[in-house]
Amino acid sequence: MAVDLLLGLQWGDEGKGKIVDVLTSKYDIIARFQGGPNAGHTLVFNGRKHVLHTIPSGIFHDDTVNLVGNGVVIDPVIFKKELDKLDEQNVDYKKSLLISRKAHIILPTHRLLDAASETAKGKAKIGSTLKGIGPTYMDKTGRNGIRVGDVELTGWKDKYRALANKHEAMIDFYNVDIQYNLKELEAEFFSAVDTLKSLKFIDSEEYVHQAQASKKTILAEGAQGSLLDIDFGTYPFVTSSNTTAAGACTGLGVAPNSIGKVYGIFKAYTTRVGSGPFPTELFNEDGATMARVGHEFGATTGRPRRCGWLDLVALRYACQVNGVTELIMMKGDVLSGFKSLKVCTAYNYKGDEITHLPYNIEEENVTPIYTELKGWEADLTGMTEASQLPDALNGYVEFLEKELNIPITVVSVGPDRKQTIIRK
Ligand code: GDP
Ligand code: IMO
Ligand code: MG
Repeated sequence: MAVDLLLGLQWGDEGKGKIVDVLTSKYDIIARFQGGPNAGHTLVFNGRKHVLHTIPSGIFHDDTVNLVGNGVVIDPVIFKKELDKLDEQNVDYKKSLLISRKAHIILPTHRLLDAASETAKGKAKIGSTLKGIGPTYMDKTGRNGIRVGDVELTGWKDKYRALANKHEAMIDFYNVDIQYNLKELEAEFFSAVDTLKSLKFIDSEEYVHQAQASKKTILAEGAQGSLLDIDFGTYPFVTSSNTTAAGACTGLGVAPNSIGKVYGIFKAYTTRVGSGPFPTELFNEDGATMARVGHEFGATTGRPRRCGWLDLVALRYACQVNGVTELIMMKGDVLSGFKSLKVCTAYNYKGDEITHLPYNIEEENVTPIYTELKGWEADLTGMTEASQLPDALNGYVEFLEKELNIPITVVSVGPDRKQTIIRK
């Protein structure tokens, strides 16, 4: 059976958690394949909001297996906090939550290194979530990392000590003021590792292979978004993993020829948290309205998200890199009340009009070229059927479909599970 993918097409926070939760009833297995606690995936149902960081967004469905794949980096301390929240809500995850032995572990010193590196960068900082993501993936590719499978072996603490000592020397090298008490951090870490060990560790690529062979349906849940991809994003203002479709192959052990549908998810406008170029960013009342109505604050760090018009140059690029087969448009409700809406269809790049994403998209190189579309007034948040959607919204959606040449099958009109309109 093919593995379907759900991928964020912008700079993250598109609403992946909500849609994975909505789609979970169609799948036997939900699998995360990259990223870690830098992600914050929000689910809202029965009047309650849940934010997941490392745990897949299918966890609230009883009959679904939730797999944390080899490409993910796990902070046991944050993972334990997520489990504690699930315990409070009597979610029975013991049998349904599986962890790849090949997933890498974020150590307390990885988090400190992230902070030291960002402080040392000063104004040029990435705007990292400071969860230790970059340093952990660096140790992975540098072949120094500690993996989940290691903590089942005797002697892993020696390996831990050697790595943590090296990290401390590196922190000193940055020569910045980072205050920490490693003893306390380690006590919390080792206790959380014990909690992690109470879960099922598996050889996940074999599990996925067997699941496919026995016709189980699998949805791979992306974290971050295509423009934060380590290769294809706005480098260096990116995360440290492949957030695009190929990341699901390496992060789960799925062969490229067994990828099925690729759901691409985007907001009806654009947001970004952290530093880096953002051609359609708004610094006016329109941007402030999007931020206010859309409650645009990071689910992991609480930082305000930068807002701007939809950028079709960037979105087209993301669709190409991922091979998107279906689009899902989120937060249509947030645009209600705008008299007209702008969509960037091309860039003026150093004097030339271009429609592809160039190497440099900084302000000095790129000016967006906009098409203006009619806005709509109606409050969408109570709508449940495609037939209720205002004509101007249908016009907006059809314009995007024509520009991107991919159907938009779902329009989301609010954070709740139920505020999801199937178009076709
Ligand atoms: P993710 O990281 O892609 O899972 O997205 P986040 O959870 O970080 O951010 C999406 C935010 O938008 C969350 O607060 C969601 O509850 C909210 N949200 C999702 N879909 C919609 C929608 O259609 N309308 C509105 N108003 N909010 C939404
Ligand atoms: P979800 O899965 C939005 C951003 C950070 C920073 C850059 C690098 O919720 O969509 P990192 O901590 O990875 O070193 O940060 O990437 N970033 C995200 N932005 N949503 C996310 O995840 C993000 N994960 C990382 O703000 O700019
Ligand atoms: Mg998020």
